[in-house]
Amino acid sequence: MDFFQTLQTLLLASTPHEKIKGFNAFYTYYCNSNETVRHSHKQPIRFTAPSYASYCHMVPPQQVPRRKNLQSTEGQIALVHAVAHIEYSAIDLALDAAYRFQNLPQRFYDDWLEVADEEIRHFQMLETILHDLGSYYGDLSVHNALFEAQERTAHSLLHRMAVVPRYLEANGLDATPQIIEKLQRLPRHDRLTQIIEALRVIVDEEIDHVRKGDYWFGYACTLEEVSKACYFDIVKLYYPNTFQKPRHINVNGRKASGFTCNELKQLTQRHICD
Ligand SMILES: [Fe+2]
Ligand SMILES: [Fe+2]
Repeated sequence: MDFFQTLQTLLLASTPHEKIKGFNAFYTYYCNSNETVRHSHKQPIRFTAPSYASYCHMVPPQQVPRRKNLQSTEGQIALVHAVAHIEYSAIDLALDAAYRFQNLPQRFYDDWLEVADEEIRHFQMLETILHDLGSYYGDLSVHNALFEAQERTAHSLLHRMAVVPRYLEANGLDATPQIIEKLQRLPRHDRLTQIIEALRVIVDEEIDHVRKGDYWFGYACTLEEVSKACYFDIVKLYYPNTFQKPRHINVNGRKASGFTCNELKQLTQRHICD
């Protein structure tokens, strides 16, 4: 099996069905064979559009449908669709890490394929809820912010690990519990319970994705002979004003995924742990 060529095909697959079916066959083979990744001399290609470009209607982030009333079916569809889109984009982000950054230890490829497998499960959980709500993935407009982060960091393992798992996915660790709390304040309803359960599974499992990102960010720092303190400078290159706003963070989730108290202090401008 040509590992990198297969990943390229999976990254280009333009529908969820094609991507997930292809990944499942590939991942079963990968887990059951004892083959190690054979590195090729072929340069990874750059993607000019996200794989869902022909499947979903793309709009600027401000134009994505809002989830105003979470008690209404419409509001629930907007919420679940938005999270499903993050998970779907995260499948490509994980596959792209394994595809693009070559000549790394086997564990790197094991890690990101495991993440892709979990992102698929997250996506499918939400897709099931969307179907129950009478909707489907691709029903609403989406933005391509995660794809942009993927492409902008395609040149550097250090930047990719800082920006994608350690910044964007870590932000999810902060945001998802807040959404859960908001849903818990609403009158109880089976559908809301189903959404809350799915979000709980996601936030729990995302801790491990950020932890893997933390490990490989540290590895990239060693390769490039820089200190992990460069994290803030790298993130600011891509999101210049992001650390200026006050933020509510998930201290336990962030600590479990490798952030130090010193970093959390820098993030929040407050002393929140020792
Ligand atoms: Fe996920
Ligand atoms: Fe993730």
